[in-house]
Amino acid sequence: MSTATEAAHAGPSAAVRKIAVIGGGIMGNGIAQVFATGGFDVALVDARPELVERALATIGRSLERVAKKQGWPGEQARAILARIRGGTDLSAARDCAVVIEAVSEDFALKRRIFEQLDALAPAQAVLASNTSSISITALAAVTRRAERVIGMHFMNPVPVMPLVEIIRGLATGDATAALAADLAQRLGKTAVEVNDYPGFVSNRILMPMINEAVFCLMEGVASAEAIDTVMKLGMSHPMGPLALADLIGLDTCLSIMEVLHEGLGDSKYRPCPLLRKLVRAGHLGRKSGRGFYEYPAAPSTPS
Ligand code: CAA
Repeated sequence: MSTATEAAHAGPSAAVRKIAVIGGGIMGNGIAQVFATGGFDVALVDARPELVERALATIGRSLERVAKKQGWPGEQARAILARIRGGTDLSAARDCAVVIEAVSEDFALKRRIFEQLDALAPAQAVLASNTSSISITALAAVTRRAERVIGMHFMNPVPVMPLVEIIRGLATGDATAALAADLAQRLGKTAVEVNDYPGFVSNRILMPMINEAVFCLMEGVASAEAIDTVMKLGMSHPMGPLALADLIGLDTCLSIMEVLHEGLGDSKYRPCPLLRKLVRAGHLGRKSGRGFYEYPAAPSTPS
């Protein structure tokens, strides 16, 4: 952190200088990028060295894009990238005041990571999850610091989207919520606090719309292009729901629908069979090169 930034900030997160991001997929990369851009030192951890390398290369390309757009001086993108240290060892969390987990939407995996982080990270550190639907209360319950566990749900693409949905688990403390909101604000984002409930607010509303678009496609109501055009031109959505599903990842969309279905018990949340079928086929959207649309360019980093 620069001295100027430290001096300028006196909010609840003033002492936070270094954070760790666990998971170098689409979301983890974006989160690491915005924290490094905000002046924080970042440890980026993924399971294997080649995944870490790929994550750093993706962030480098994204920073070059921002640099070009914003007219940054030549060294700035490289200096930001240099603040991100990649690695495969979770013990990078040992000297971090905040750890943000951004691995795939698999409760067993997240649970294992939270148990390990609870043992490794400083006792006062905040453990946050970028989960898009898994219960923060359940993740907090596997640690001995439930009051310092919270959801920080960033939106894709992280460098562009201004929202961070802050999710309070049953035991999340006020100080933790204030710190998370303050951090989001330091990244130039708007924090909105919600309570832990299946899908929170963002995906409780967004995902049934996407799922319904998949039903429309499966039932032959219209083509993918027609469905997306109706929503773009008729409702001023920046992209159609099927293109958005490809951006998010069809596997992520399916797991969120399963959480809604199981957690709320209403058949209106049943995942569309076509969504299941595409996921089984490995058509996961942009990251696999094919979803509702085809993406002939090299697939980007899977989450
Ligand atoms: N990194 C940095 N900048 C990026 C970027 C990235 N990965 N992707 C796009 N941008 C920038 C572009 O450079 C461009 O900037 P300017 O306008 O300043 O030139 C701007 O964003 C718009 O990009 P494009 O012109 O390339 O394309 P676009 O106008 O079609 O916008 C979009 C792309 C921002 C993705 C827009 O279509 C959009 O907002 N889509 C909706 C995205 C959305 O709903 N996200 C939430 C998904 S839900 C989620 O993430 C949570 C979950 O749990 C599932």
